[in-house]
Amino acid sequence: MASSILSPTTPSQLCSGKSAIFSPSQALLVKPTRTQLAGKGKGMRITCQASIPADRVPDMGKRQLLNLLLLGALSLPTAGMVVPYATFFAPPGTGSATVGIVAKDAIGNDVRADEWLKTHGPGDRTLTQGLKGDPTYLVVEKDRTLATYGINAVCTHLGCVVPWNAAENKFICPCHGSQYNEQGRVVRGPAPLSLALAHADINIDDGKVVFVPWIETDFRTGESPWWA
Ligand code: FES
Repeated sequence: MASSILSPTTPSQLCSGKSAIFSPSQALLVKPTRTQLAGKGKGMRITCQASIPADRVPDMGKRQLLNLLLLGALSLPTAGMVVPYATFFAPPGTGSATVGIVAKDAIGNDVRADEWLKTHGPGDRTLTQGLKGDPTYLVVEKDRTLATYGINAVCTHLGCVVPWNAAENKFICPCHGSQYNEQGRVVRGPAPLSLALAHADINIDDGKVVFVPWIETDFRTGESPWWA
């Protein structure tokens, strides 16, 4: 049994007052007496009893199935929005420290060591795309082999890209004049640190150059890498 203020009812409901039973149409026409208004307030309270045929009550299995369908319909678009949002705030490179990336040349092609050495002579330092998309120099040694390290071109002062100056045999930053030797070790400030390193490995299967994070001692300074 449930009590409610007089309201629209369904045909399947029967409503009763204190001592009588009314159909819904009858219930809407009931006028409260003066005594009832004084005693109960402006609304006449009636009692309604739901009377729904048993064959119209959905069974529990159907209700659970509908709940699951509703949950699935809400979960998929929600996950589609939440996952990209969450990954936006995850810093790149938080996976395995040994995962490498194939070097890309100026037009975005993979760098193959043999092709590269045909067009880049001894002492050459040319920018490629390295780890995290950072501009990274590939170094050609005097014996026309690729150095086993790449030099990150982002200045450690305020982040300008440092060009290679072949005449001076240095990297010289155009922003505030910091200088680095041919291996990227800082030799003049205001830059406080040497340029970062990355391993430049050659994939034995396809000959492509692969940059791998450098987490070992910096061979130029004998210190732990500040960038790792
Ligand atoms: S950003 Fe390179 S010296 Fe300031």
